[in-house]
Amino acid sequence: MTPAPATAEPLLTRDYDANPAQVHERLRKVYGPVAPVDLLGVPVWFVMGYEEVLRVLQNSGGAWSKRVDRWKAHAEGRIPADWPLLPVFQVNNSTFQDGAAHNELRRAWTSALAPYQDHGHPQGQRLEKAVVRHADDLIGVLAEGGATGWADLAAQYARPLPLMVADRMLGFTAARGEDVVMDLWRMIDAGPEAAAAFERLYAAMTELGAAKRAAPGDDLPSYLIAAKPDITLDELARELLMLPGLLDFAASLVCNVVVEVAANPDVRESLSAGAIDETVNRVALLNPPMANLTFRYALTEVKLGNYTIAPGDPVMLSVAAAHQDPRFAGAIDWHAIRTTRAHLAWGAGPHNCLGQLLATRITAIAVHRLFKRMSKVKLALPADQLPWRPSPFMRALRSLPIQYELAPEPLRSAPAEGETPGPEEAPVDEPVVERPARSPLWAFLRGLRRPR
Ligand code: HEM
Repeated sequence: MTPAPATAEPLLTRDYDANPAQVHERLRKVYGPVAPVDLLGVPVWFVMGYEEVLRVLQNSGGAWSKRVDRWKAHAEGRIPADWPLLPVFQVNNSTFQDGAAHNELRRAWTSALAPYQDHGHPQGQRLEKAVVRHADDLIGVLAEGGATGWADLAAQYARPLPLMVADRMLGFTAARGEDVVMDLWRMIDAGPEAAAAFERLYAAMTELGAAKRAAPGDDLPSYLIAAKPDITLDELARELLMLPGLLDFAASLVCNVVVEVAANPDVRESLSAGAIDETVNRVALLNPPMANLTFRYALTEVKLGNYTIAPGDPVMLSVAAAHQDPRFAGAIDWHAIRTTRAHLAWGAGPHNCLGQLLATRITAIAVHRLFKRMSKVKLALPADQLPWRPSPFMRALRSLPIQYELAPEPLRSAPAEGETPGPEEAPVDEPVVERPARSPLWAFLRGLRRPR
C-alpha cells in the first residue's frame, strides 16, 4: 500500500472545468484508481476506478456511511465554517442518512414518485402533457422575435423546463409557483442571493407541507405524507427541497443530448424512429450529469486502490471518471444499437436514483419537442468549445448557444380510430394555466431573448 502524500493537489482547477477527462487520466496515471485530492481546501479521496466506485456504492459489507457526523475532520472542527460546500452536506435529508431512517424515507419517495413514473397512471399522463405544454410555451417565448434567430437553449429552455415541472409536482398555485421557480434558480446557482433564496424556499416548503397535510391534493407533498404519515414538517421541507436540484440534473442531460443530436445528423435521423431513450442512455454514459457524488465516510479501515482509507475519511465517487476507466470503457461496444445499461449515471446500491424513469421521460420529451418544433438547431460554437459551469458535482453547460429555424406549424389531424395519441398529440384535459401578464419568470425569460 502506498502511504498518502502529505499534501494533495487541488481537483477543481481551470483544466478540470475545461476537460475533466484529461485530469482523470493524469491522476489515474500518478495514483491509480483512487487519488488523494484537495477539494476547495478540504482533503478527500477521489475514486475513479469503475470497480472501486461500484464496490463503495453497493456497500455490501456496510463499511461506508453517508452521515456527515461520521466525517472525522468535521466532528473535530477542522472544516472551515465558510467552506462553500458545507451547506450541501448539512441539509440532512434522506440522501445523507443510513439504515432504517434512510429506508423509511426511501420507501416514501418510491411510493410518492410511482404515479408520475407510470405511463398508465393519470398523473403520469398529465405530467407528460404538461411537459409538452411547458416546452411549447418556452419555445414560443424564445421564438417571439421571429422564425429564425439565436438562442441560449440552456437558459431559455433546458433549465426552466424541469423547474416548471418541479413547481407543478409540488402543487403550488401558478402565482406562488412563479416566485418559487425564480428562488429555486437562485438557490441552485449558489450565487450571492442563494442563502436568502434558501431561507424563503425552506419557509415556502414548510408552509406548503402544512397546507397539504390539512388538505391533501394530487401532488408530491401529499403523496409523501400519505406514504409516511409521521413525517415532520421539517423533514418534509428538506425532502421537497431535493426535487428542484435533482430536476436541474435533468436540465443538464437535456443540454448534453441536444449537443449530441445537433452535432450528429445520424442521431437526429434516429430521433424520428423513436430511439431517443437510447440517445439519452448513450449521453448519460458519455457525459453523466451527476459527475461526482456527495461523500461517503469509511466506518472502518478500508483498502481501496493503492491506499488504505482511515475510519472517518471522506471519499468522493466520480461517476464520470469511472465511465472513462479503461477497464470499463474499453469493453463498451459503441457501435451497438443498444449501449450498455451497466453504467453508474443513476448510481447503484442503497442510494441509487429513484427518479430515473421520470428524468429520462422529461429529457426525452424536451428533446423530441425541440427538434419537432425546430427544423434547424445549429450549435453556435464547436462542441468542444462550449462553456461548462464550474461545479464539484455536476457536469452542466453554462450556456448552449444555438442558431435556430422554426419548422412550419403542421396542421393537427385527429388520431385515426383505434390509435392512441402520444403526449404530444393528446388533448390537454386540464385548463392551460395562463401566465400572469407581469409574470416574473416570463419577464426574465423575455429578457434573455437575443436580437436577430
Ligand atoms: C438527469 C437527472 C438525474 C440524474 C443524472 C440522477 C442521478 C442520481 C444519482 C447518481 C443518484 C445517487 C447519488 C448517490 O448515490 O450519492 C441519485 C439519487 C437520487 N435521485 Fe436521481 N438523478 C436524476 C434525476 C432525479 C429526479 C428527477 C428525481 C426525482 C424526482 C430523482 C430522485 C432521486 C432520489 C430521491 C435520490 C436519492 C436516493 C437515496 O439517497 O436513497 N433523481 N440520482
